[in-house]
Order: sequence, then structure tokens, then C-alpha cells
Amino acid sequence: MVTLLENPLRVGLQQERTPEPAILVIFGASGDLTQRKLVPAIYQMKRDRRLPPETTIVGVARREWSHDYFREQMREGIEQFSTGIGAEEMWEDFAQGLYYCPGDIDNPESYQKLKALLEELDGKRGTRGNRVFYLSVSPKFFPEAIRQLGAAEMLTDPVKSRLVIEKPFGRDLSSAQKLNRVVQQVCKEQQVYRIDHYLGKETVQNLLVFRFANAIFEPLWNRQFVDHVQITVAETVGVEDRAGYYETSGALRDMVQNHLLQVFCLTAMEPPNSLDADSIRTEKVKVLQSTHLADINNLEVSAVRGQYSAGWMKGKQVPGYREEPGVDPNSTTPTYVAMKLLIDNWRWQGVPFYLRTGKRLPKKVSEISIQFREVPYLIFQSAAQQASPNVLTMRIQPNEGISLRFESKMPGPNLRTRTVDMDFSYGSSFGISTSDAYDRLLLDCMVGDQTLFTRADEVEEAWRVVTPALAAWEARTDPALIPKYEAGTWEPTEAEQLINRDGRRWRRL
Ligand code: BG6
Repeated sequence: MVTLLENPLRVGLQQERTPEPAILVIFGASGDLTQRKLVPAIYQMKRDRRLPPETTIVGVARREWSHDYFREQMREGIEQFSTGIGAEEMWEDFAQGLYYCPGDIDNPESYQKLKALLEELDGKRGTRGNRVFYLSVSPKFFPEAIRQLGAAEMLTDPVKSRLVIEKPFGRDLSSAQKLNRVVQQVCKEQQVYRIDHYLGKETVQNLLVFRFANAIFEPLWNRQFVDHVQITVAETVGVEDRAGYYETSGALRDMVQNHLLQVFCLTAMEPPNSLDADSIRTEKVKVLQSTHLADINNLEVSAVRGQYSAGWMKGKQVPGYREEPGVDPNSTTPTYVAMKLLIDNWRWQGVPFYLRTGKRLPKKVSEISIQFREVPYLIFQSAAQQASPNVLTMRIQPNEGISLRFESKMPGPNLRTRTVDMDFSYGSSFGISTSDAYDRLLLDCMVGDQTLFTRADEVEEAWRVVTPALAAWEARTDPALIPKYEAGTWEPTEAEQLINRDGRRWRRL
């Protein structure tokens, strides 16, 4: 059994995973994430007996809830957003480990009260002083919460206390550096878990296995064979009821700096020399250090933002972003971003990586597609018009799997070719659907495995890559300057031009 006490840096992806009993303290306990994702994930793990029976959750938020009211709220969340409660005894047992502690982020007394409750629970529940503090509050409260936890001496034990910080970590390079300094003043890097739920997705983790447990792909994974790479994270949802957050964030901070760049790193990095957390994270940092926007002096050719206007989704009319509740009618917040990145290293020199993400696009789909070079000379002259280059696609979601597109002879007397797909699907190969990313990440944090969390230098490098675009867009405050795309369509014309200019096209998904 791996315990919290073993050297966390040596705990790698391949280990057995049963954590020690611990208390998970969730700041922002009355929020959506707690009810929809975090508590249902813990419940599922307890049902699957992946967590020790002593595991305890303490919710912290401003509202004056009682323990019982918190329990009811969490029960509703589990019923609504996961596979349900199951046996009533299971819920009863779980509910006994749920507590609530009302408190203000900036009030030292709240932390003293929390500290006393945690000590009391250690005695009652047998959690042995192990704590995971999860900051699921608005990012503007991160520094204060971290300082206060430090001042209350709740992060002093680097082995027993951990800090999980939601994204976005900072608003740009300098604020991320500042936040890292706040973190470093109160705890050690080995205690810090900067979460990016994309890394908890099976399909994203499988990138490492696919690339480094198979001999046939790696020799092709470079500038000699790859023409370009496209990474797409498309969503059909709009801003929903999150305007308060999204207006201060936008697609670049919400998706690109974290989820897309993490997927990018795993696609482009060199093989790590082992599976331990720091070997993998060091390779990711190296690739980010070599990455830049295609042309920093001419932003139009390297980054495009967009905002959805009113349109149609699945036969239903939907409002434009500026008409959504809580959104400024002159907002310049991007709901779409496309970028062309280049990597200055031996493997990837000259191979563009095109990234795009947006809300209110026609389909929910996330994938990485490696587009190979054309054959040097096509001997099938008559079929030449039909031959298209090979494409390897890793489908992150939905319909998780991998497919390879190649040319094949069509049956019949004439020599005609057609593009066909060889397909692997998680569903049919493993017979189970992939689990929610949060259970995996919470468990990792409890066992002390930082592999799937972003290190301080990594988060800063990711900001460095995107900050030139961010700064340029924020300087252009005229609302008329932001390109528009109709809800339910793929992208603004400017984003098409970004890739068409290079003689390439976005994949139609
Ligand atoms: C979150 C973003 O991190 O990821 C949301 O804040 C986005 O805006 C979500 O909708 C997408 O996650 P997934 O797992 O549904 O692709």
C-alpha cells in the first residue's frame, strides 16, 4: 500500500493507489463544482472501496449552513450528477463523514474555527492529521485563502497537508508568478496540486502510453513525417450561468492556457526517462520553453479570437454572447480562440501546431490529429486527386478512441483509391465508459502523486506562450474589433484564414 508518507516524488503513475485516511477540506463548498463533481467523485470512490472508511469531507463557504443541510445538498448533487446513492446504508455511512464549517476567506477567526474542527475530527474519525485543502473558490480569492491557511499554520507539515488550486492559476504571466510566490511563502512545491481536469481524462493519460509503450509511432512522431498537428476542443454550450466568472476569463484563460496547452505538451514532449512526476513534468516544461506563437510581431497570423453571435443550435435559436445574462453588451471577452504555435527544437522545427477552442460550436468534440506529409510521389496517377495524407486522430471525447486514416484500393476492376479508417474505441475494447476526471485527480492528490498536476514553472511557461496574444487583445478595447461567428457554426472567417494561409484546412468534425 502506498501511503502519504512515502516520498511523493517517487510515487508514479503505475503505483497501487490506496491513500491514508484524510480530511478533504473544500473551500467554495456551496458552489457548483463541489456539488456536481467533487463530492460525487468521492462518493463513487468510497462505493468502489478505493478510499479508506475514515475519509472525511469538510465544506467551507460563507453561507450559514448546518452539517445536515450540507449533507442534503451533497445528496442532491450525487443523485443528480452521478450514478446515484445506491444502497441507503452506503449513503448513511458517507453522510456521517460530511461536515460543514461556515467561514469567510479573509477572516482569520474562520481559520481558527476550521482548525479546531479538523483537530476534533482527527480524534473522532481517525484521519491522523492528513489534510487536503481544495480551493474551489473564485480565482481572485486564491492568494488570500493561501495566506490565511499559512498564517493559521495549517500547511506547515509538507507531508500531511496538501493544497489543491483550481484553474485559472493567475490571469497572465506576472500574476501567475505572483501567485506562485504567495504559495511558496507558505508551503513547499511537493504540497501543491494545481489542477487541470483534462489531465485526469483517460484519453489524455493514454497519450503517454500510446506514444511510449508502442514502438511503431515514435519514429514517425517528428518533422520528417508530420506535416502539422491540430488540437481541437469544441463545445456546444454557451456561457451558461457563469458570466460572472467567464467575463473576467474568456476562452484563452479558461481553456487554452491550461487544457489545450496540457494536451499540446503531452503530444509534443520528448520521452521522459521515468514515470515519476518530475520526469514527466520536466519534459512538459522543456517543450513549453521551446514554444512560441508563430509570429509574435504579426499576431494576425498566429492568434485569432472570436465571439459568438446569435444563431441556431439543434434547431433552437440561441442568443449571442453579448445578450447572455450577466454579460456586458459591449463585451470583448473571446468565446473562441485559434492559435498557431511553433516549437524550436530538433523534433518539431517548422511543424505548426494549430489549436482551437470555442463555445457554441456545432459539436462537442475534443481531439488531437496528427496530419502526416503527403507521399513524395504518387504512382497512382489516375487516383491522384483522391489521395489524401494519412491522419492519426486521438479522440479525447466523446466516442473516446484512436483512428488512423489511410488510402485503400476500392474493390473493382479500376484502380481507384478511397480514404478509410482503422479504428480503436475505448467503449468496445474495454467495455466500460471512461470515468470522470475528478475522481482520478482527487485520488492522486490523496496518495501524493503530482504527475497529473501542473508544476510552478510549467504554469508560468504556459502563460508565457499565450501572454503576447492576451496583451494585444486586451489593448484593443473597441468591441467592433472582435471577430464574430454565428452560434452553431465552426469559426470566424479570420480563424479559417489563419490556417488556409498556410495551404491547410481545419478538420471538419
Ligand atoms: C472547464 C471550463 O475547465 O472546462 C469550462 O471552465 C468548460 O468553460 C469545461 O466548459 C470543459 O470541460 P469538459 O471536460 O466538458 O471538456
